[in-house]
Amino acid sequence: MEYGSVSFERDSVIAPVNRRLFGVFVEHLGRCVYEGIYEPGHPSANEDGFRTDVIDLVRELGATAVRYPGGNFVSGYRWEDGVGPREKRPVRRDLAWHSLETNQVGLDEFARWCTLTNLELMMAVNLGTRGVQEALDLLEYSNHPSGTTLSDLRIANGSVEPHDVRMWCLGNEMDGPWQIGHLSADDYGKLAARTASAMKMADPNLELVACGSSGSAMPTFGEWERVVLEHCYEHVDYVSCHAYYQERESDLGSYLASSLDMQHFIEAVAAAIDHVQHKLRSKKEIKISFDEWNIWYMSEDGPSGDASQEWSTAPRLLENAYSVADAVVFGSLLITLLKNSNRVTSASLAQLVNVIAPIMTEPGGDSWRQTTFYPFAATSRLAQGNVLRPRIIVDGYNTAAYGEAPLLDAVATHSKKNGSTSIFLVNRTQDKPLTARINVESLGVQSITEAFGIHDEDAYAQNVFHEQNRVRPIPNSTAKLHNGILTIVLPPISWTAVSLSD
Ligand code: AHR
Repeated sequence: MEYGSVSFERDSVIAPVNRRLFGVFVEHLGRCVYEGIYEPGHPSANEDGFRTDVIDLVRELGATAVRYPGGNFVSGYRWEDGVGPREKRPVRRDLAWHSLETNQVGLDEFARWCTLTNLELMMAVNLGTRGVQEALDLLEYSNHPSGTTLSDLRIANGSVEPHDVRMWCLGNEMDGPWQIGHLSADDYGKLAARTASAMKMADPNLELVACGSSGSAMPTFGEWERVVLEHCYEHVDYVSCHAYYQERESDLGSYLASSLDMQHFIEAVAAAIDHVQHKLRSKKEIKISFDEWNIWYMSEDGPSGDASQEWSTAPRLLENAYSVADAVVFGSLLITLLKNSNRVTSASLAQLVNVIAPIMTEPGGDSWRQTTFYPFAATSRLAQGNVLRPRIIVDGYNTAAYGEAPLLDAVATHSKKNGSTSIFLVNRTQDKPLTARINVESLGVQSITEAFGIHDEDAYAQNVFHEQNRVRPIPNSTAKLHNGILTIVLPPISWTAVSLSD
């Protein structure tokens, strides 16, 4: 048995929980849109062709916002192809994923789907093959009430009310050589500044996201952020971070500590923001939009996809099946996002359905929850009020990737209004349980409402088509509250949530 001690103080507030932290990402990629959220022939499809079984799962997931329509896809996308009568929409080649795009789902349908799923729509504009004018056109079509050519076109297409999209990404991963029309930091920074300032002439209250590095391993990481922000700092509101993790070379210890990399990444980007802010003597504070994060086994199904599926519609791309260990790492990434709520105020789990996703579907058939579904749904449901800074005392273990990593990680949220406290924990120990002694005295909690987690004797157990409920949250009956001290035994390789009431 290992032991760890954690304490939370009511006044040790990092920031309020921002609901946008529970955003997701839908890209026109593989079977995310087609056969994922949209399948007209499916028994559960509504009049728009959207699967209502998937809509129910998205609601249960507790997602709050959705980034759309890409991703790499957006850098070759013509938004006009996806509006107007469906029978007249063109079929195009998507060069990013070597697929065929039928355009049967576009902005107006997707906005209707967002209403059904209670998701805030966050759009990305194409800065790969297009520029300022097309971004302005899309903004006019999407947000202007009426009386202009493009807003009246939207109305004629059936969307009488404007979509009122507040948050816009200025391109996607423009530092990546794989990106259609990728740019140097200097060129992208100038283009982002021009696009952002023009969009804000249309609406000064938009929230705009400049592309940060597409990963902290990019050779230009750090310098990219500095150069881009020096050009566009005063025009944008966020810089993006993207990070994907996977177990490499059977090194489970390093993999379980992946959130240390995410923490370091956030700190480095925050430092770049601060550097530019001070250099420019700006009063403005730019936040981080962590608008792509997840587990992704790229080696199994890389960005170029499977050659046998080239130029097909809705090919099976990036359909990773997730294990218990993946869900534990995933839960620790959510803990890290919460712990950085003062800098990261928006995040998007990439992606939502079928493509590196918490929800899977079969055409004409079932939809089911992957292991990663559960930590996301529980964290979104239980994280309320303010995020509290943890004080953790625990042993560490040695990892090849990150040096010493603590065996335990944790964060809490506290809502005075709801009279509730929620604690999220990860035990990285591989072969022993860990008893956590958690001091919550200052929070005035009286009782345990629920305690459950993700754990399995087989850390590689998965939920797959033929066994959709192999992994589910398990109640943890070891949780005890006495005199302001919560004790709980955390199984090896586990993610746990505990909620308490005043
Ligand atoms: O989410 C899958 C892909 O990962 C996105 O299209 C791209 O932005 C990133 O490289």
